[in-house]
Amino acid sequence: MNNFEYKNPTKIIFGQNKIAELATEIPTNAKILMLYGGGSIKSNGIYDQVKTALADFEVLEFSGIPSNPEYSILMNALDFIKSNEITYLLAVGGGSVIDGTKFLSAAAFHEGETPWDLLTSRKPVLKAMPFAAVLTLPATGSEMNSGAVVTRRETKEKLAMSGPALFPQFSILDPQVIKSIPERQIANGLADAFTHVLEQYLTYPTDALLQDRFAEGILQTLIEVSPKILKDPSDYNAGANFMWSCTMALNGLISQGVPSDWAVHAMGHELTALFGIDHARTLAIIAPSHYKYNLASKKEKLAQFAERVFNISEGSTEEKALAGIDATEAFFHTLGIKTKLSEYTEDYTGTAELISKRFTDRGWMGIGERGSLSPTDVAKIIEMAY
Ligand code: NZQ
Ligand code: ZN
Repeated sequence: MNNFEYKNPTKIIFGQNKIAELATEIPTNAKILMLYGGGSIKSNGIYDQVKTALADFEVLEFSGIPSNPEYSILMNALDFIKSNEITYLLAVGGGSVIDGTKFLSAAAFHEGETPWDLLTSRKPVLKAMPFAAVLTLPATGSEMNSGAVVTRRETKEKLAMSGPALFPQFSILDPQVIKSIPERQIANGLADAFTHVLEQYLTYPTDALLQDRFAEGILQTLIEVSPKILKDPSDYNAGANFMWSCTMALNGLISQGVPSDWAVHAMGHELTALFGIDHARTLAIIAPSHYKYNLASKKEKLAQFAERVFNISEGSTEEKALAGIDATEAFFHTLGIKTKLSEYTEDYTGTAELISKRFTDRGWMGIGERGSLSPTDVAKIIEMAY
């Protein structure tokens, strides 16, 4: 097991009717900006619950943060924060609203030239306005981690930022919010969380027995609850397990002491930036090709995954590894998620070369758990995913 230091300061408040506890968590003198998306919270009652809980606070609102939070819209929110002397941000939404809020919390305290530097510099964010979240969509784990991803339509870029100041102070997770989520977004949440675990687990063995069992437990739980929650999003117990699995998949716990890959996400973000494909679906497009392309270096963990998660016991290490990749692709299909780029766009010719060049231009010369995947490898993986 590798050495590690682990601290996660986010308080999780989990369970039925917990949104009412907002008032006890936010400082009474805070001037709050409540941030949300396109309006789902107005129709499902979450907006009213938040407003009722914060009746005694000074609360302003900024709405319209879209999926894949857009930089130009966030810049309008930043002006609003500055001109209204906001002191506390409250995200009410899924990964996009929470990530947008994280960007804003950093941008509000940013001293450099343009807040876009926060995305390009890859420096850890050490100072940020305090913020919290009411999670409405289980998927990204953003509610309990210190990462954020922001999109810039103008340049078709989608870049990540992170740092110790970007953990929410607290997040409220009430699984009752799941009942209004459309099937497509539930499928996305399942596939995103599943792939988060794969990125931190399908690398090479480091004798981290507990981390492996944590990872396998999350994967098995996601597989177990997926048919139930897709069939009936108001099934509270299935929803609670789905929600907690998504949080645990990317709150830092399972990555301690082990290598992480994240190449699937790096390539997937480009597909969202170029074609607007939902985040989780880009991962389902890239993952099977990525694992096949890297079979030689990943086969031990892939075979363990096949055995322990999908009960595949027949064959050589390599055969089991390949069967595990096929089972993963089949799992995505059970969620109604297509796994080839050509099933999302007809305009894919040249995508592999374009993304490969972008990585070269950014100086991303070696990605993956060993830093060994060059832009040329990236092009080959993406071409396999056509
Ligand atoms: O905008 P509204 O009207 O609220 O509708 C949203 C949105 O259209 C809807 N929704 C959310 N909660 C709902 C609901 N509809 C009905 N009932 C509810 N309770 O769902 C749609 C999708 O929301 P979004 O926040 O975009 O989805 P998700 O949580 O999947 O977030 C995706 C973003 O997170 C980033 C992705 O790249 C993408 O930009 N990620 C963030 C990560 C992180 N911070 O750690 C890691 C991930 O790998 C990912 O990159
Ligand atoms: Zn993801």
